[in-house]
Parts: sequence; C-alpha cells; structure tokens
Amino acid sequence: MSDQFKAPKGTYDVVAPFSATWLAVKSALTTPPMMSGYDYIETPLFEDTALFVRGVGESTDVVNKEMYTFEDRGGRSLTLRPEGTAGVLRAVLENRLDKGALPVKVWYTGPNFRYEQPQSGRYRQHTQVGVETVGSSDPAIDAEVIWMAIYAQRNILGLTGVRLLVNSLGCHNCRPQYRATLTEFLSGLNLDETTRQRAVINPLRVLDDKRPDVQEQLSSAPLMPDHLCGDCRSHHASVLRYLDILGVQYENAPRLVRGLDYYVKTTFECVHDGLGAQSAIGGGGRYDGLIETLGGDALPGIGFGLGVDRTCLAVQAEGLTLPDAMQVAAFLVPLGEQAQTVVVGLAQQLRSAGIACDMAFDSRSMKAAMKGADRSGAKFALIIGDDEVAGNEVVVKNMGSGEQTSVPLELVISTLQSQI
Ligand code: HAM
Repeated sequence: MSDQFKAPKGTYDVVAPFSATWLAVKSALTTPPMMSGYDYIETPLFEDTALFVRGVGESTDVVNKEMYTFEDRGGRSLTLRPEGTAGVLRAVLENRLDKGALPVKVWYTGPNFRYEQPQSGRYRQHTQVGVETVGSSDPAIDAEVIWMAIYAQRNILGLTGVRLLVNSLGCHNCRPQYRATLTEFLSGLNLDETTRQRAVINPLRVLDDKRPDVQEQLSSAPLMPDHLCGDCRSHHASVLRYLDILGVQYENAPRLVRGLDYYVKTTFECVHDGLGAQSAIGGGGRYDGLIETLGGDALPGIGFGLGVDRTCLAVQAEGLTLPDAMQVAAFLVPLGEQAQTVVVGLAQQLRSAGIACDMAFDSRSMKAAMKGADRSGAKFALIIGDDEVAGNEVVVKNMGSGEQTSVPLELVISTLQSQI
C-alpha cells in the first residue's frame, strides 16, 4: 500500500534475524565494563540544549548542524542527545557521584540523534555502548578504558579487521602553542575557502581531511605528539606502556583528531577497514576540563562510545555468526486438544527450569507444526498426541539426527538438560 508509514529518513528497524546479532553485539560490548567495576547509568534522551552547546562544543558539526532541537510546550529549548558524555557527566554532578569515592566509573547504552546525511553506517538515530570515568588522571585508567573498547570487538565478537588508533592531543597548556604553529603552517598551503575557514575555527580538524590533494600538502605538517609538554609526553608514554603490558595491539596515529571539542591528551579510535567511509566503530578519549565547564570541580575524566550499528556492520562484513540469545532449545508440538493442555503446562515447566522453548499455536497440523519447529532452530521437537497423553509420555525428536524416542513426561526436563 502506498500510504503505509515508513521509518523516518536515516533510521531503521531492528528486526529478526538481524535483531539477534544486534543483541549479541550489545551484550559483548557491555561485558568488559560490567567485568571491570563500572556501574550502570541511564539518563534522559533529551537535555537542555545549552548542555550540549557547552559540553560538546560550539565549533563542532554535531552542535552546529546536527542537533535535533525543539521547544517544548513550556518554552524550554531541549535537544535529543547527540552523544552520551555530556548527559552522563551532568547526571554525575547532579547526583553528587563526584563527591563520593573516586573515580566514578559508569557504563551506559542507548540511542543518540544526529541530523546527518544518511549513508551506509551513518544514521540519524544510532546506538552506542559507552563508559565514562570521573576523577582519575592515572594513565592506567586510560589503558583500562582503551582495553575495554577493543577487547569486546577482538576477543568477544572475534572481529579480526579492527585497528586501534591511539594519539595524544595535548592539554590546555601545550595545545594552544601547537595550534598556533599548525595555523601558521596551514596559512601557507593552497586550500579552498571552506577548508581555510575550518582552519580558523579548528585547525586540528584539517589534519583529518581525507582528500588526497589536501593530504599531500599536509605531509610535512607539524604533529601534536612532537609538541607535547613534559606532562603530556610522560602520560602518553605510560598509557602506551600499559597497552603493551596488556598485549593490546595499537597503531600510533599522530593525525587522529576527534569530532567533538572536549578531548585532551589520550584519544583513540577503533576503525574497521571493511566499512567504507564510515569506518570508525568506536572512539573516545580524555576530557580533563569538561567537568569544570559543566559546573563541577576540576576533575579529570576519560571514556568511550562504541557504535552498535557500525559494529553490527563489521560483524556482517566479516561473516561472523554470533550466539543467538533468543534461540530456543525445544519446540513443542501438540496434536489435539488434550495434548494442547499438556503442552501449555510443559512449556511453562521447561522455561522455569531454564530451558528456552516455543510451541505451535492455533491447532497446526503435524506438517505445519514441524515446519515451525524447523524454523525455530530448536535442537529438539517435543511431540505430544493422544497416545502420548494416554501414556504420560512425550516423543522427543532430535532435529539434527531425526532420531525419535519416547520419554516419560516426568523425565523430559532431566533428559533435555543432559542433552543440551
Ligand atoms: P563519537 O566518535 O561521536 O563519540 O561517536 C562514537 C561512535 O558512535 C562512533 O565511532 C560511531 O561508531 C558511532 N556513531 C556516531 N555517529 C553515528 C551515526 N550518525 N551513525 C552511526 N553511528 C554513529 C562520542 O559520541 C563520544 N561521546 C564518545 C566518548 C565518550 N568520548 C568520551 N566518552
């Protein structure tokens, strides 16, 4: 029908069978923070617009071009969150978590909204799994955060094509000087007007320009790692040393800059080369100074956001099969009214015993019900007809081998438990 509604431009539905991959990816990405002492946090989908303007930064594309901002009926300017960090830090301060034991370590997951030009891997609603830490400037926490970001991708999901890029962007002491040096270098290049303007607002972003003619001119550009102050240099060296100790493979990426304004010192990105232009499947870094900007004490912080959508694309690009948490172990087939009564009770008993199962509804014929059993992917079909009801039995069919055995009703659970 032509007048059916469609998902808004740049959004999509997560439906089966893809939804199993989606859940498996989310579960994998959330495992390392859950194993590392991070508390779960949930914040509203919308916040005061000013929070993002101040927190994410006025010179960013995210704030300038991509925010979903609206006025509510009370005349407040609100914005759908374009990223997680600003809202989480607002919540940390509002709930005075920063006044308790430090560092505060939290993880979160949920959708973010950016009015971007949609393309493969770039959507107007995307989902992240993220962590934020507040109150530690120990390079060991940088290493923990980076390790968590890459461990899930490489070791839990089994992605082999992810590269970890690491850089230091310097701090509020050394970056201004580097920025001036870079600005001077850029002023001597043959750049178009838009790039020139970008160089004035945020010269570091120009380093990220992917066009070959610009890249060629940038080959001798001054790079941040060569202009770090002593403190930043030793912090960066310690982070890299910890990554070596953890056996994390990384690449030094002196040209890596991030799209949000708040980063200082350690920055990193996980990129997957099988994804085309939108290759960053996650990124993060330190944001010492941001908490102060948001009205808190001068506490350091570091975190990451991993893109669930793009990680799913990477999983598909590598042809990986992930465990399906919705996969049922048994599919129950009632043949007749009396059998249906038994099956309804048995299904509930199996589920209570921790055996996931589904059943055929609507008095399906044996053939149709067995098709359902097949589609469910269950290892066993449990078939109950009049004879089985009379004999208090169940026919257990192994869907792989086709082998069938009659099992007394009261032994079905233990039989399945021993064979799953
Ligand atoms: P971000 O790099 O803007 O960082 O986003 C993190 C990840 O979210 C990206 O690497 C990408 O995988 C995914 N992502 C971003 N935009 C889109 C989009 N339009 N469509 C699909 N996926 C997208 C942040 O958001 C920071 N808050 C991360 C952070 C936390 N840094 C410190 N703490």
